[in-house]
Amino acid sequence: MKIKEFLATCKRAFNMARGGVYTEKELKKMCFKSLGKDVLISRLCTILKPADISIGNNSRVDAYVLVSGKVTIGSYCHIASHCRICGGQAGIVFEDFSGVSSLCGIFAVSDDYSGNNLAGPAVQKEFVKRTEKEVIFKSFSMAGANCIVFPGVIIETGTAIGAGTVVRKPTKSGCIYLGNPAKIVGRTQQGYIEKYKKFLSEHQNL
Ligand SMILES: CC(C)(COP(=O)(O)OP(=O)(O)OC[C@H]1O[C@@H](n2cnc3c(N)ncnc32)[C@H](O)[C@@H]1OP(=O)(O)O)[C@@H](O)C(=O)NCCC(=O)NCCS
Repeated sequence: MKIKEFLATCKRAFNMARGGVYTEKELKKMCFKSLGKDVLISRLCTILKPADISIGNNSRVDAYVLVSGKVTIGSYCHIASHCRICGGQAGIVFEDFSGVSSLCGIFAVSDDYSGNNLAGPAVQKEFVKRTEKEVIFKSFSMAGANCIVFPGVIIETGTAIGAGTVVRKPTKSGCIYLGNPAKIVGRTQQGYIEKYKKFLSEHQNL
């Protein structure tokens, strides 16, 4: 066993020994749509219907996260504590190496708040105007703490969303967004591309 693999195994054992995450056996019993290897899911998070949720390898879902509806989480993704990931029927996709920091709300479904309709899941569908559109976090994109992302938003590759930002429209690749509504305030560095190449040379697969 290579030293790096050994260290990764130690790290995983350490995390499990802390008692905060489900064991591999427990995760299998939960019957996810699909489940990769070395996934760390806090016992304190709420996953409403694992059969609608796919998770790749080495991803992590922290305490007090709520995951509902259709959600696909790739490999090496991180959903930090207290996030609400509400996929509905349209779904939310986190591609490999994407992530959201604590307290984010990511919504693929939302009702009309204009006043022209009734709203909320307790009301029959014919009285409600509901928007359901897929949300995608492309690879190497991330959102800082306390961001809100609306239905239909594509967070492009390498986008950084600053803390406290409200994103209502698709982003441009490699840009930094801030504020409400989100505006471009700069460009991200591209160093991650070299790091990713190095990562791939050291890891057989994702
Ligand atoms: C948006 C962000 C990526 C910008 O980082 P940066 O390029 O290093 O920018 P700086 O820290 O130099 O700040 C640049 C300017 O933007 C402002 N700014 C930075 N982040 C901001 C935010 N989230 N909201 C509002 N203004 C912000 C700064 O005050 C500064 O303004 P000034 O030039 O008038 O002083 C970063 O500030 C951020 O929000 N990161 C997310 C961190 C996070 O949520 N971590 C969670 C734990 S992992």
